[in-house]
Amino acid sequence: MSIDDAIKGRRSVRTYKSDEIKEGLVRECIEAATFAPSAKNGQQWRFTVLTGESKDKFTDMYRNELGKLTFDVGSSFGSCTMMEEAPVVIVVWNTNERGWTTEVHSVSAAIQNLLLKAHSLGLGTCWIGDIFYTYEAIMDYFKKPWKLLAAITVGWTDVNPGPRPRLSVDEVAEFLN
Ligand SMILES: Cc1cc2nc3c(=O)[nH]c(=O)nc-3n(C[C@H](O)[C@H](O)[C@H](O)COP(=O)(O)O)c2cc1C
Repeated sequence: MSIDDAIKGRRSVRTYKSDEIKEGLVRECIEAATFAPSAKNGQQWRFTVLTGESKDKFTDMYRNELGKLTFDVGSSFGSCTMMEEAPVVIVVWNTNERGWTTEVHSVSAAIQNLLLKAHSLGLGTCWIGDIFYTYEAIMDYFKKPWKLLAAITVGWTDVNPGPRPRLSVDEVAEFLN
């Protein structure tokens, strides 16, 4: 797959088949993530891959914690359903060793690599930030010494969502002489 096909063809996929994903494919995606640039080559990314029972326990906890919140949680219940349906959920952590904002950038770059690699393998993914609604509960659940950064759903899919609108180059860039 060409770099343009990967970048422009990737979509957030929110409907998955229940078919299993071989661990080797998930490893390939994570390996691609590890080739991202990182602040001071700190490689601040860490990944917890959830499948089967570990995923079910996590999504049960997440749904339960969302239910306790009394404010608007946006699309969170939809994101929860997505995680319940996807055969693989990857929780992404930032080791945050230095407390630098740039460490967040490193891990975000790794996530983009992961999404692109998954797409090249024919897998659908979605980057999920809605987990931040229950940040403390998730931190408490996993008891990792890192900071939660995102979750990613991964799964085979039948759907092929169209492209979301994008701002043009002229709308987002200025060229100064
Ligand atoms: C930081 C971040 C957080 C996101 N959180 C969610 C989420 O919680 N739930 C969801 O369905 N999509 C989430 N998305 C996916 C975006 O909605 C999606 O990338 C955007 O609409 C553009 O669509 P595309 O990915 O198909 O190009 C998130 C994306 C990013 C980068």
